[in-house]
Amino acid sequence: MSQINYPPQHIAIIMDGNGRWAKKRGLPRIAGHQAGGNNIRPTFQSLINYGVKYLTLYAFSTENWNRPKTEVSGLIHLLTQKIDRETENLHKNNIRLIHIGKTNKLSIKLQQKLSAAISLTKNNTAFTLCLAFDYGGRDEIVQATKRIIDAGLSSAELDETVFSQYLFTSGLPNPDFIIRTGGENRLSNFLLWQASYSELYFTPVLWPDFNQKEIEKALIEYEHRKRRFGAI
Ligand code: FPP
Repeated sequence: MSQINYPPQHIAIIMDGNGRWAKKRGLPRIAGHQAGGNNIRPTFQSLINYGVKYLTLYAFSTENWNRPKTEVSGLIHLLTQKIDRETENLHKNNIRLIHIGKTNKLSIKLQQKLSAAISLTKNNTAFTLCLAFDYGGRDEIVQATKRIIDAGLSSAELDETVFSQYLFTSGLPNPDFIIRTGGENRLSNFLLWQASYSELYFTPVLWPDFNQKEIEKALIEYEHRKRRFGAI
């Protein structure tokens, strides 16, 4: 493991390529998601070792409901399984779990499991794992606007800082580094507001194959970026 002197504080990952990973092996798409799901724990363990503090994972977008029913239910099953199997381990390791996105389309039972895991781990301080599930950047901005209107804020009271407080990500730092695996070069409705000054990293490596070596490669690339935030 190389020394990384300037690890990003917050990394966000678009975990793309699970379907192609499965197809290459003659497996059903859901086997790719399973393999992708199995890659989550080694990823955050490695990031913790590099000194990263926040990881946001795009696990299910507002558009993913349009996938075949079996794939949607497979992904929801995977989320349930992850919460059941991983919460204890997260808590033992002082990791906080949070969620961004909507929960109203999930079963009541799953909503309860998710909020129990979030509440159990809410005071943990070593690392924050943020799961974007039924998340869409445009939807997030619309939901924030609705809440601002419902709260009765006047236009004079609104600025970027106040607006941010109504987003799902309120209280989280913006992502410093957004990684997309699987070879597409786009954000696909992920963290549209928060990504304004994020460094972007696109790799053809499929998500289940995005291993320790690939993480290190990405972090070395991040160290070479010069972040100016609009200044010179
Ligand atoms: C994109 O790959 C991936 C997703 C839509 C789902 C990501 C989910 C996981 C990695 C499982 C994590 C599990 C949870 C729910 C915690 P794709 O299917 O678009 O791949 P393709 O572009 O190769 O078809």
